[in-house]
Amino acid sequence: MNTDHVVRTFVDYYEERGHRRITGSTLLPPPGDPVLFTTSGMHPLTPYLEGRPHPVGRRIVNVQRCLRTTDLEEIGDATHLTVFQMLGTWSLGDYEGPLSLEWGYDLLTEGFGVDPSLLYVTVFGGDDQTGPDTASLDLWQRRGVPVELTVEDNWWSNGPTGPCGPDSEIFLWTGTTPPESTPTGDERWVEVWNHVMMRYRRLDDGSLVPLPQRNIDTGLGLERLASLLQGRTSVFDCDVFAPWHSLVPTLWPQDELSLRLVYDHLRSAVVVIGDGVRPANTGRGYVLRRLLRRVLTVLRRDEPGRSLGDLPPDLIRHTLDHFRQDGDTNVVRRILLQEEDRFDRLLERGRHVLARPRFQGPLTEEDFHYLHDTHGLPRDLVLNLRPQ
Ligand code: SER
Repeated sequence: MNTDHVVRTFVDYYEERGHRRITGSTLLPPPGDPVLFTTSGMHPLTPYLEGRPHPVGRRIVNVQRCLRTTDLEEIGDATHLTVFQMLGTWSLGDYEGPLSLEWGYDLLTEGFGVDPSLLYVTVFGGDDQTGPDTASLDLWQRRGVPVELTVEDNWWSNGPTGPCGPDSEIFLWTGTTPPESTPTGDERWVEVWNHVMMRYRRLDDGSLVPLPQRNIDTGLGLERLASLLQGRTSVFDCDVFAPWHSLVPTLWPQDELSLRLVYDHLRSAVVVIGDGVRPANTGRGYVLRRLLRRVLTVLRRDEPGRSLGDLPPDLIRHTLDHFRQDGDTNVVRRILLQEEDRFDRLLERGRHVLARPRFQGPLTEEDFHYLHDTHGLPRDLVLNLRPQ
């Protein structure tokens, strides 16, 4: 089942159950939102979770592109991507958690053909502010699915304040042995679907108040689900990455981990540029700059002459299409090249400055500040030129 088929099956299933599909938003949250990028499907829906009536009704389904920089250091493992698509469903003050979990379970097992004996779920066990989520626990026990109770891991929020609530996460066993242990006890249990009972708002003082309505917000990562359904051990092996696998390793031969970083970061950079971001020294533009500099650093490690100008335009097109962006391949390419050029000039300056006698010993914090403030050389880049 390729990713397009997964999306269709998912959307059809929820449309048959009264949900209306809405178009996903861009990666850029509306002005005034303190977060740089959209990090989950619920993000653009926050006003509706807080009670504003949604124009299409109380049941919604969509596919939302998301970007998470919190996971940047985990890139290259089997389950994380910087930019990914999240399939999501919402009940805006309509049906309750158990029905959402029931539908989720049926879609996974009957719609997607997941073996029920490979599932495990987690449920919020309660803390000093909120009681345990007994409704979810009862549902799972009735369906005969093994349950683990946790506290922090089953409380979802998008930040220190705002809408939040207990969640129930569905895990799929990915090991080659029969399932063992529990989701928190064995990494081979991979989270595929999160159902959040979004019914509280956390205030500045840390207290919780009920939202005007009891919502359900569910999300599952498309590339992760697709790779599992395709029997792959990593997100990088699902169909979306097939064109990358067929073109990049011959163009820029390197170890598997470096290839994964290159795929992830370049693909993310293309999508971010496609949503109108340009490299800069602050904010979103800086995230883009960091992604591209990391790629260039990895590419140049083995072969200093490598250039983003050699990236096949088909990969740019394929990525823009996958994320339903109409961006122009040539514009994306031009921005990649301009940024590469800038990076090269910075490296050149860095080498020149670091050759001075003053910088021959170990670098101090003061040196790093000076190099940054006077010569525009970020710490990462200095460390690259002069590993400590
Ligand atoms: N908001 C939840 C998540 O990101 C479910 O969509 O996991």
